[in-house]
Amino acid sequence: MQYVVGNWKMHLTVPEAVALAGRIEDGLAHLAAGGVDLPRVVICPPFTALSAVSDVLDGRTVALGAQTSHWADHGAHTGEISPEQLKGLVEYVIVGHSERRAAGETDEVVARKLAAVVRAGLIPILCVGETEASPDAEKHTLAQLRAGLADVDPSLLESLLVAYEPAEDIGNGRPAETGQVTEMTAALHSELSDLKADAAVLYGGSVDQDNVEDFIKIPKLDGLLVGGASLSDQQFIAIVGEAAGSG
Ligand code: PGA
Repeated sequence: MQYVVGNWKMHLTVPEAVALAGRIEDGLAHLAAGGVDLPRVVICPPFTALSAVSDVLDGRTVALGAQTSHWADHGAHTGEISPEQLKGLVEYVIVGHSERRAAGETDEVVARKLAAVVRAGLIPILCVGETEASPDAEKHTLAQLRAGLADVDPSLLESLLVAYEPAEDIGNGRPAETGQVTEMTAALHSELSDLKADAAVLYGGSVDQDNVEDFIKIPKLDGLLVGGASLSDQQFIAIVGEAAGSG
């Protein structure tokens, strides 16, 4: 697999985040020293910890991402952070996570945010996925993908990650069926190829060290977006190790 992304959500104080990032980097450096060819590993701490975590990373083993950002470059938007402000601090930004969509982020907002991320030269990790199982799930997810890319020319994107994250499989220890992920991975790749977008497809939703082996076997699945299990260095390193072993 090419990517493992950790989403720390609204967890950890600054010292806790720094300590976890250090342990993850040490663990991964150990794997690499043992000859493991690591995938691209990205961690997404809360905004409060980005600067301090960036100081302890060596910039080679682990890349940094933000969990969201605003659509404007700057302005009177109290409490918001723009991709312009994240430049130099992170390389990736998660856009359209289902927890933000549930809090009111529409497809139009997601599209504007994604365009702002691209404008700032950062790499978007666009999250898509149905909110509940239904016969229309695939249609819904592909429509979200198109809507999220509506404000950019997908064929011009230098780098794009799309994470398939069915909302009802997030954070509850019950990941999606591998058959469903296999179908959606293929459908997303085919839609992306229609859009002439060169993108990686990831799966996210209750991935942990015990079930990761089911997902690394999925054809054309390029990576994993890990929430809860990324808060444990031991689990996260184990997941990265499995993803590396899958080629
Ligand atoms: P989870 O979260 O691994 O805790 O299910 C995944 C995500 O929300 O990105």
